[in-house]
Amino acid sequence: MELTAIPDIPLSSGAEIPQLGYGVWQIPDDEAEQAVTRAIEVGYRSIDTAMVYGNEAGVGRAVRASDVPRDELFVTTKIWNTDQGADTTRPAFERSLGLLGLDYVDLYLIHWPAAQNDRYLDTWRVMEQLVEEGLVRSIGVSNFEVPHLERLLAECDVPPALNQVELHPYLHQRTLRAFHAQQEIVTEAWSPLGQAAVLDDPTLAGIAAKHGVSAAQVTLRWHLQLGIVAIPKSANPGRIAENIDLFGFELDAEDLAAIDTLDREERVGSHPDDVS
Ligand code: A2P
Repeated sequence: MELTAIPDIPLSSGAEIPQLGYGVWQIPDDEAEQAVTRAIEVGYRSIDTAMVYGNEAGVGRAVRASDVPRDELFVTTKIWNTDQGADTTRPAFERSLGLLGLDYVDLYLIHWPAAQNDRYLDTWRVMEQLVEEGLVRSIGVSNFEVPHLERLLAECDVPPALNQVELHPYLHQRTLRAFHAQQEIVTEAWSPLGQAAVLDDPTLAGIAAKHGVSAAQVTLRWHLQLGIVAIPKSANPGRIAENIDLFGFELDAEDLAAIDTLDREERVGSHPDDVS
């Protein structure tokens, strides 16, 4: 079996996103180029960054230097909370695009709803224009909850293609996923390994031993089998490769049922209401 046969997931925009991507949160700019280069070499085709990560320049250098053609790579970045708004969104996007050194990004996300500031609808209208102008292929959101999505869907011309949220074996996000399914919004998981918190779980360890893989691989395989897009982060070359080596085994119904019982609605990151 091919080790890097990453499926593509269709987006409502008409584009497709690789189901497994490489997340670069907490990777310093001067290390990002090397890490992203390694990720592309071992088969990742999707890279997830954000203005606030401070590493768009390093990511862009790796993407531009790669032998893989630009149209076979999928680059996501995100607008930071303080840049949201009718007049500030375009300059923020142009800053990201300039740091990346690219002609377009594949996916532009609102990083957090920051609902207290009440600017995500104004932000979205500018993002719709960026799509119109060909500077962005697909637009979506991150850390939105059902009420934020309902408000956006009621007001928008272009619906959000995807919502990127914290999602791992201790936080299944069942309500959001059901809503996404109704609305053709793809679910994408940040911290799919719960920032490594799930990796010592005895249930996952048992499943890993049964298949001769690691608990991280079981966790990421679980995301894939649920139809979720996952973007594991690792700064370690061996683990970058391990996290994409998911196509030589399959979780059975018993494994999936066992992981289903692990949900404890436990976050490793912030709740969307607490970020402004
Ligand atoms: P490192 O960068 O040293 O590999 P998440 O993607 O859920 O936020 O998790 C990221 C955390 O999990 C990082 O601390 C990362 O450390 C660690 N990690 C990533 N992949 C693996 C793996 N395959 N095995 C163990 N730890 C991992």
